[in-house]
Amino acid sequence: MGLKRFGVSIPEDLLERFDEIVRKKGYVGRSEAIRDAMRGYISQSMWESEQTGGLATLNIVYQHKPSLMAKLVRIQHNAKAHAISSVHVHATHSHCFEVIVLKGSKKEIEKLADEISGISGVEHAKLFTYSIPLETQSDHIH
Ligand code: NI
Repeated sequence: MGLKRFGVSIPEDLLERFDEIVRKKGYVGRSEAIRDAMRGYISQSMWESEQTGGLATLNIVYQHKPSLMAKLVRIQHNAKAHAISSVHVHATHSHCFEVIVLKGSKKEIEKLADEISGISGVEHAKLFTYSIPLETQSDHIH
């Protein structure tokens, strides 16, 4: 794929703040940082347009209680969004941290995330979404 150059006019202070981040993150140059930002913006916009589904991770911190853990497992088994994998960390004596990897449509993923974050005892929940065109989801071969 060829590279295309284009000119952009932006306020000086915005560029300074952007360049500061480019330096801190150790990008080779501004161009790669802009490409990264654009990919993120496109992915987020696609997600919001509801045309796609994709992958997501739901990060949760919750109270370590057997009844709560059983409820979390039950909800994941019954959900339309597919809980592909999860990592459980026994964070402290009283709290667990879990990363749940989800696959499905935007609607299914957000429904499951809302359901889990609404459970009493789940103290933090953050969803990170990555949109992937639906037609390429099922026939991915390594
Ligand atoms: Ni635990």
